[in-house]
Amino acid sequence: MGGLGRAFHARCETQFHERGRRTDDRAQTRLGRRPRAAEADWPSGAVFLEIAARRKAAGATRRTYSSLEATRLPMPPEPAIDLRSDTVTRPSPAMREAMANAAVGDDVYGEDPSVLELERRTAEILGKESALFVPSGTMSNQIALLLHTRPGDEVVIGEGAHIAYYESGAGAAWAGVQFAIAGKGGLFDAEELAAAAKPKADYHPRTSLVCLENTHNRAGGRIFPEQLAMAVVAEARTLGLAAHLDGARLWHAALAANQSEARLAAPFDTVSVCFSKGLGAPVGSALVGSRDALRLARRYRKMLGGGMRQAGILAAGALYALEHQRARLGDDHRSARELGRALGGHHGVRVVEPQTNIVSFTLESAAASRVVEAARARGVLINATGPSTLRAVTHLDVSSEQVRRAAERLGEAIAAVVGTSGSTEDLP
Ligand SMILES: Cc1ncc(COP(=O)(O)O)c(C=O)c1O
Repeated sequence: MGGLGRAFHARCETQFHERGRRTDDRAQTRLGRRPRAAEADWPSGAVFLEIAARRKAAGATRRTYSSLEATRLPMPPEPAIDLRSDTVTRPSPAMREAMANAAVGDDVYGEDPSVLELERRTAEILGKESALFVPSGTMSNQIALLLHTRPGDEVVIGEGAHIAYYESGAGAAWAGVQFAIAGKGGLFDAEELAAAAKPKADYHPRTSLVCLENTHNRAGGRIFPEQLAMAVVAEARTLGLAAHLDGARLWHAALAANQSEARLAAPFDTVSVCFSKGLGAPVGSALVGSRDALRLARRYRKMLGGGMRQAGILAAGALYALEHQRARLGDDHRSARELGRALGGHHGVRVVEPQTNIVSFTLESAAASRVVEAARARGVLINATGPSTLRAVTHLDVSSEQVRRAAERLGEAIAAVVGTSGSTEDLP
């Protein structure tokens, strides 16, 4: 082959390999993988999501992208600062050690020493007779509904209550109840409870229970003030209602209000608390209340499939969290306040002043989902809680320094989406 022939042959070969690589890249992309040939220097999946969002906004119908487009976008710094929830924490080596060494038995037989100790200690902290370890806060709340109501009853709750908003319709499915909302914004007073409760008549649902949430998740980690809660429960008694507290983050409320958990739990028949949120245990919640109520709760737990066997491994993690990671929640509250202040300084952003570890903010003129994606591309994970509302949650797996960095990057993300004039602009 002459020189010209060799050059022609080489060019054909290059084109052949290029075409093959591109086809292979497309196949890899369709399978949700990164293109193989440029693996090392391709940005992470978050950037592809952002590109997809941009293309969609521009009216593109096919999910394609070019490498050039991808490399122009900011590289997400690793690892991501995860502020989506305080449920994302991972057990520390010390917690894992406590779990690995836990004494265990069959808890359905009531023979697991670690579970029994966790239940004893939780009841003690909350000032109630008895506690029941359950897999989740959802199950704990649902058992409370089963305890206090009959099918067809109505339960009064505050706006956005987890028990109705985030539990997959379980209240209607298992206890067979419907919900009536009292007040606005999650908290409510005695008068609002009385207005929401149905009068007694054959044609009304029977109002049998009031549920409060402290701290209130969707209201931005708001504390239900003690005096207000006491007045609401006093009104509930006048109306003949039982009272349940969803205290998934009661630890936060107690610390921030400088009150004991027992005092905040005192007015209620049952209280649900979580070990798997700010306290940082991998799994678990507890329902507390009277011995009689908890005997029946144990039965409902079994009915819902929540009877666990050597659950002491999990209980040991929860117990470790309770004893070692409760006092430090104040660090998360400080970080949340700092983050709230930083976000509030941006044009077009309204922040609910954080009382505990949740920072809830609203954008005046932009889609929250776009800020979520822009933040993700900058290595910060947050959640949209509505079309224009977002949430960032501080917890023990993010240091105050990381929260500071997250505040800067969130500021950049907001500016990229909202612009500095407050108008909604496309991503840069
Ligand atoms: C206020 C509140 N109650 C209950 C739950 C449910 O807990 P779980 O996710 O363990 O079911 C949550 C979860 O975030 C919550 O925020």
